[in-house]
Amino acid sequence: MDFLSLAKNRMSVRDYQRTPLSTELIEQLLEAGRMAPSAVNFQPWHYVVIRSEAVLGRLYACYPREWFKTAPCVIAICGDHNEGWHRTRDGKDHTDIDVAITVDHLTLMATEMGLGSCWVCNFDAEKCSEVLGLPAHIEPIVLLPVGFPANHNNHGSAEKKRKPLHSITHWERFD
Ligand SMILES: Cc1cc2nc3c(=O)[nH]c(=O)nc-3n(C[C@H](O)[C@H](O)[C@H](O)COP(=O)(O)O)c2cc1C
Repeated sequence: MDFLSLAKNRMSVRDYQRTPLSTELIEQLLEAGRMAPSAVNFQPWHYVVIRSEAVLGRLYACYPREWFKTAPCVIAICGDHNEGWHRTRDGKDHTDIDVAITVDHLTLMATEMGLGSCWVCNFDAEKCSEVLGLPAHIEPIVLLPVGFPANHNNHGSAEKKRKPLHSITHWERFD
């Protein structure tokens, strides 16, 4: 797929086939995340892969939505705030930005592999840290359910709802 088609085809999938994902397949997906750029190349991310019924079951309490339970795998993408670059001038922490880039690589790679995924940030991060046994400096930033999309074609509208280019593009000045 050319890049623009890939970007247009990626969509939030909120219903999955229960087919388990092999370790090999998940590692292929994560390899795309690993290639993401990051500030000063610090790569302040960790992927916690959750496939067991036991841990998935506990994770559902962090994001209690029925559709979320259909995914055979959830990847918790975590940021290490001790490893992320903090801008010298004002201390701005770039960990969230770096994590967002690696997640974007994952979602696009998933699309390329015929997998579905959906960014989830509206979850209980405190509970999630507890379930995954994360140390204090490791923040769970995104939960990414991953799986083959369920066999129906209403995963999203064919036409993406996006602001028109002219309303978000500014030439030379913010007018
Ligand atoms: C940072 C971020 C957080 C998001 N959090 C959630 C979430 O908690 N739950 C959810 O169902 N979708 C979530 N989404 C998915 C968005 O709703 C979705 O990307 C947007 O509506 C555009 O649709 P599309 O992904 O199908 O193109 C999130 C997306 C992003 C980028």
